[in-house]
Amino acid sequence: DWTMAAYRAEAIQKIREQVGDGRVICGLSGGVDSSVAAVLIHEAIGDQLTCVYVDHGLMRAGESDQVVNLFREHYNIPLVHVDASELFLGKLEGVTDPERKRKIIGGLFIDVFEDEAKKIGGADFLAQGTLYPDVIESVSALGGPSVTIKSHHNVGGLPERMNMKLVEPLRELFKDEVRALGRELALTDAFVDRHPFPGPGLAIRIPGEITREKADTLRKADAIYIEEIRKAGLYNEIWQAFSVLLPVNTVGVMGDERTYEAVLALRAVTSTDGMTADYYPFEHDFLGRVATRIINEVKGVNRVVYDVTSKPPGTIEWE
Ligand code: XMP
Repeated sequence: DWTMAAYRAEAIQKIREQVGDGRVICGLSGGVDSSVAAVLIHEAIGDQLTCVYVDHGLMRAGESDQVVNLFREHYNIPLVHVDASELFLGKLEGVTDPERKRKIIGGLFIDVFEDEAKKIGGADFLAQGTLYPDVIESVSALGGPSVTIKSHHNVGGLPERMNMKLVEPLRELFKDEVRALGRELALTDAFVDRHPFPGPGLAIRIPGEITREKADTLRKADAIYIEEIRKAGLYNEIWQAFSVLLPVNTVGVMGDERTYEAVLALRAVTSTDGMTADYYPFEHDFLGRVATRIINEVKGVNRVVYDVTSKPPGTIEWE
């Protein structure tokens, strides 16, 4: 794709001009955006870049290994892997408000990055995989007349406290363009086509109080759901699919035992940029199969429901 090749060359030039001989620290989330940003910046400035992957204990099953392998083995880009799950889950204890969850997580990310920046003798720039729709949604969230949107993506805010300038090479791109750029940079299709995953991770897919046990339950259920979507060949037709562990117990029956366990909601949407979305019209057989597997295989869940809300009026995430 000649357009993307040109964009790549131009972006690399711009990064070099902006950064000079400064040091850049880049937080990887496991998502496509931060990965593409990191690979691009590495191509521009090599070992002036330090990548940090913070595991907040709210990642999906297997995610940390995938990211670490991709960077260390596939790209040979050095990566600092911080297991901060105790810290994050500790500070989130008892917190139920979605925006407070985001603020706490955002704040802790800064703390961890600051620590890591100190370890490498200071960084001048923070790299982020901010996309164009993130910029727009954040601007309207600052008091646009239309709707109040979530405090997404840490757009703005970070650098003042961190005393670092931002490097955001994807700021003009939409998701499909980032994916094209990722392919241009030799990221595998399996990685490039991954569904978006929010920075706060499973924290905003566990309405109410977050515990490690709930996160574990959600990870297991979600892995089954995604596995079935892949098996059915539907993964790439769907913009984003995930599970939400509800803070509601319902009565069920298993054998001749009465159960009283959590409800899991399944979500899947089609979209082109995440700003509007339609729920995905799964076959009922498919939904039944997933529900049966989850209830049989995941302890703590005895009921599964499917969310048929589109955006607007719903949002994609539940929080
Ligand atoms: P909503 O739920 O607002 O989400 O329809 C639109 C897209 O943004 C993702 N999302 C987030 N991404 N930090 C992120 O990095 C966040 O706090 C956040 N909240 C939502 C969501 O997964 C969807 O792709």
